[in-house]
Amino acid sequence: MDIIVIGSGNVATAMGRKMLSAGHRILQVYSRNRAEATHLAGLLQADPIGSLREMDGRAGLVLVSVSDTAYPAVVREIPFTRSLMVHTAGSVPMEVLKGSSPRFGVLYPLQSLLKTLPVQTDLPLLIDANSPESLSYLGAFAGTLSHTVVQAGDEARLKYHLGAVMVNNFSNHLYALTDAWCRQEGISFSLLHPLILETASRLAYASPGQLQTGPAIRNDEQTLGKHLQLLEDRPDLYRLYEWFTQSIRRWKHGTAR
Ligand SMILES: NC(=O)c1ccc[n+]([C@@H]2O[C@H](COP(=O)([O-])OP(=O)(O)OC[C@H]3O[C@@H](n4cnc5c(N)ncnc54)[C@H](OP(=O)(O)O)[C@@H]3O)[C@@H](O)[C@H]2O)c1
Repeated sequence: MDIIVIGSGNVATAMGRKMLSAGHRILQVYSRNRAEATHLAGLLQADPIGSLREMDGRAGLVLVSVSDTAYPAVVREIPFTRSLMVHTAGSVPMEVLKGSSPRFGVLYPLQSLLKTLPVQTDLPLLIDANSPESLSYLGAFAGTLSHTVVQAGDEARLKYHLGAVMVNNFSNHLYALTDAWCRQEGISFSLLHPLILETASRLAYASPGQLQTGPAIRNDEQTLGKHLQLLEDRPDLYRLYEWFTQSIRRWKHGTAR
């Protein structure tokens, strides 16, 4: 398919690469920053454009991937087109694209994407569109990029996004806090890497609620006390440790909500 990419951030770059390697042709890349447009267009063998008025009307699909709050302003600048317009946001309604084309939808990658890293092979795509024809067209396209393509409306997509924030952004923040604490204490965070990977990989054969280990689930008061003592000069980590301990206990007693 012939594609236009609008945006030059993490998702525009990662999805652009993914589409190119799946055999699609990227016609143009638009970014408000001309240097970024030129750089990404170079990577994607496309032409950079500095104005949305230059969009090629022959594109089969236009991927709009900008910051969540920027969609309305960017969409207002897009000249009316018959290309299928899709955005990539978890928490932005599909209708934001309504004025730009009679055919619009969403292509939301349920994965953490960074322009500096290769795209994961496991890339679930949540799709939606404003008509059965557009949904079927988008579904066929998405199937060239991923084995996991699921239709999800605005409400379900928002819930998946919230889930993604909890399992990815929050757990990564815990890693960052623990990494900094390890440095402060002169121990090596990298020795914890196998544990992080093992915990995630166990999800392939059991639900997380069945996999809980550690002093909180064992009611090991002595160890909990020693850990909290170590965190006395770190009120932020102390509060987190206490909160998680109580949450695990509530879970164990079936009172978690
Ligand atoms: N990263 C992920 O893991 C991920 C995963 C799934 C979905 N998403 C969604 O994908 C979208 C893009 O995310 P991202 O991570 O790629 O963001 P990003 O790396 O911050 O890139 C945002 C892009 O939007 C452009 N932009 C921001 N405001 C603009 C405006 N007013 N006019 C024109 N362009 C503007 C930025 O241009 P400048 O460089 O000039 O600022 C940049 O090209 C978001 O909707 C996000 O929720 C992200």
